[in-house]
Amino acid sequence: SDQSAFETDVWTLTRFVIETGRQAKGATGELTQLINAMLTAIKAISSAVRKAGLAHLHGLAGAVNVTGDDVKKLDVLSNDLVINMLQASYSTCCMVSEENKELIVTPKEKRGKYVVCFDPLDGSSNIDCLASIGTIFAIYKRISEGEPTDKDALQQGNNIVCAGYALYGSATLVALSTGAGVNFFTLDPAVGEFILTERSVKIKPKGKIYSLNEGYAKYFHPSINEYLKHKKYPEDGSSPYGARYVGSMVSDIHRTIAYGGIFMYPANEKSPKGKLRLLYECNPIAFIIEQAGGLATTGTQRILDVQPESLHQRVPFVVGSPDDVNDYLSFVKKFS
Ligand code: AHM
Ligand code: MG
Repeated sequence: SDQSAFETDVWTLTRFVIETGRQAKGATGELTQLINAMLTAIKAISSAVRKAGLAHLHGLAGAVNVTGDDVKKLDVLSNDLVINMLQASYSTCCMVSEENKELIVTPKEKRGKYVVCFDPLDGSSNIDCLASIGTIFAIYKRISEGEPTDKDALQQGNNIVCAGYALYGSATLVALSTGAGVNFFTLDPAVGEFILTERSVKIKPKGKIYSLNEGYAKYFHPSINEYLKHKKYPEDGSSPYGARYVGSMVSDIHRTIAYGGIFMYPANEKSPKGKLRLLYECNPIAFIIEQAGGLATTGTQRILDVQPESLHQRVPFVVGSPDDVNDYLSFVKKFS
């Protein structure tokens, strides 16, 4: 019939999360509630991001909307959405957001056992030029009793229970892992659900693309510049690598997982620890990349092994196809 192409037994992300929750031993459904709340926030952010052009025009006319309120900036709005949705899920005790200096402690009556570290809208310098942006998050179990403290959030990436990112690109996509591989889900706006579009995603062992802000070359360590030189002028007769850099980490990472290659935000003289934040940028991405068969390192240590010391600490970040990251590490060795 003419309806035959219409799938009637779809794996939505909601279904996937319920099913994984059901299979987990001793599961109470709290994590399922938490992930679903995060997905609701992501859908709302996606919708807000898609309307940013209009909102922006409106903003020019005085930055005040029809009701007389100030127009909320997209990153503030996204932050409020994530915090409110997560607190309403009764599954968190505290959160760390890129937008909040201090630990966000869930009101007592709404507390649950999880800790969430997130960047509500990463790549904010790309908002006004309509390039892709994203949301990043990592979920941990709390490790203390009583009042939640920073200690609950200062856990190694090794302890991650679930991590993911949302990419607001030409489509809205969620990459999610609960430690059993990575799956991609694409938002079907007509249904308002994420549909499983790629199962058990694996990164290529080696890619053909390098990705970093090479404008800082003047300030890089010689190991980085030497590595890059070998990508541009290979000595083994192979073709030079392509260069791609959106400057929006979720975009650059998603491409790296989809096509292979290496993404780097190394330390430089101006920012001795790089730029990216361990808790809500590097750790979740490192978890996903490793789950897809890739590597994530500071150059001297596996990212997920780093013991966090402060909520907003930065780390040098190099991730991607295993052969490419190992190739880079051989240059680190040469120069140490
Ligand atoms: P943000 O959290 O202020 O948006 O900064 C993080 C972003 C990443 O998405 C991206 O990888 C990096 O900053 C780009 O920085 P740079 O402009 O120095 O290359
Ligand atoms: Mg960010």
